[in-house]
Amino acid sequence: MHLRSAAPSIAVAIGVFVIAAACTPGDSLDSISTATTATSTTEVPTTTEPSTSTTEAPTTTDTEPAAPQLSAAELGTGGDVLFPGLGNRGHDALHYSIDLDLTGEELAATATITLQATEALDTFHLDLVGMTVDAITVDGEPAPFERDERELIIFPSSPLAAGDEFEVVVAYRGTPAPLDDAAGPFALGWQTRPWGTFVASEPTGAATWFPGNDHPTDKATFDIDITVPEGVAAAAPGRLVAQDTGPDGATTYRWASEHPMATYLVSVATGPFSITSDPGPDGVEIRHAVLTSREVELLADLESTIPILEWMTDRFGPYPFDTYGVLTIPDSIPFALENQTLSLFGADFIDFGGDFADQIEVHELAHHWFGNLVSPAQWQDIWLNEGFATWAEYAWAEEQGFGDFDELATEAPFFGEMGPLREVTPTTLFDAKVYFRGGLGVEALRRTVGDAVFDEIVQAWLTRHADSAATTDDFLTIVDEIGGDEAGALMRSWIDDPEMPPLPPRP
Ligand code: TRP
Ligand code: ZN
Repeated sequence: MHLRSAAPSIAVAIGVFVIAAACTPGDSLDSISTATTATSTTEVPTTTEPSTSTTEAPTTTDTEPAAPQLSAAELGTGGDVLFPGLGNRGHDALHYSIDLDLTGEELAATATITLQATEALDTFHLDLVGMTVDAITVDGEPAPFERDERELIIFPSSPLAAGDEFEVVVAYRGTPAPLDDAAGPFALGWQTRPWGTFVASEPTGAATWFPGNDHPTDKATFDIDITVPEGVAAAAPGRLVAQDTGPDGATTYRWASEHPMATYLVSVATGPFSITSDPGPDGVEIRHAVLTSREVELLADLESTIPILEWMTDRFGPYPFDTYGVLTIPDSIPFALENQTLSLFGADFIDFGGDFADQIEVHELAHHWFGNLVSPAQWQDIWLNEGFATWAEYAWAEEQGFGDFDELATEAPFFGEMGPLREVTPTTLFDAKVYFRGGLGVEALRRTVGDAVFDEIVQAWLTRHADSAATTDDFLTIVDEIGGDEAGALMRSWIDDPEMPPLPPRP
């Protein structure tokens, strides 16, 4: 309970944890590659690479030359400045259908991925860290593959033309191991505990448990089926569309996400959970996954979800997805993450009840507009996620009569340096400035342009880039357009000036 006084907000709690994490010896700047080397040599293709002769330039001059093929280095990058290994080039993921069987000693899984080629391809990459790949097919034909750290390199039996839609099936198994990646405040990816499993991937952990195009610029829809032994529940994003129990008592939980989702926001949890379903405002289903042993008090605390959702709908527009809820895990660390439609919390956070728990809930729910509906196009744009979520947290708190932006402006430097918002590295993505200078910058904009213009800017941001990803410059374009020159100059100084500017007085 001492946390209430030590950490008045989720952002403060996380900021403090990041500071602690930053001081951990042995953190590696290139931990994505170092974390995966152990598994990179376990699979080799069983057949030779397919011939590329069909794509060679024809000899006659009146025929178009074949499209140039991307190099391996180009195929293996999604173009992220901070994390070039995340994502891939040459295709666009449209849909993932992931089947997870957790009834055996290890996870046995099949991922069926619908992709569209954006260039001519005779080979292509997916991201996958660890796990053992048993077999891959492309459009039903067996396809040889190679592993190289987080790259899964696939050789389809016939080349793909730009625009082709194709289906890749990856059969894989193992015990997913989280990445000890300094990019996150905690170990990233699939986590196994004595009580069950959960997923916390932001930003680099998604590839620990499914193969994909792991960058927020490539969103897709997801169906996730999880088979668990009798007595265990399984939660995932979206709606629970079926729950089938076999004669052995094992149950398959079938979850469907019809709204596009970034890979870092995809989650699964298995364990002693009760899954609820209640009608919420505007047809949104409220679906929590709470610890069965603490169900009554957790659900009582989570009743605030509805007023928070209503407040946010008023400010930001309709909730972007068809279901929302909170997963509470029995780990006692302060822990919250905006996994899409199923925010992850340590049960102890929620158990605080009252203003403090609500403020964290506001933060994670606000991410569903800022981060989940509109995602960062580059990880260095992370302040767009955390700044707006922190702004929402304090705007809510001010309305409730307990938070104060001016106080935050005074206290923020105490939690870490408040330098330029885009100056982040793979290990400082979740530093205090991203939250506090980010949130205060949003408030500075609101105070400068007034509520009506501020709301217009926010609406333009959310509608123009819905179901997609955008950059800080995309945001500045909207501020310039709707707020005018003064607002644009103010926002630029909040983003880029060496020192954090003073918060303008309340209008
Ligand atoms: N986005 C989280 C927040 O709401 C912080 C965060 C990033 C995180 N990566 C994480 C939390 C991994 C837990 C695990 O502020
Ligand atoms: Zn956040």
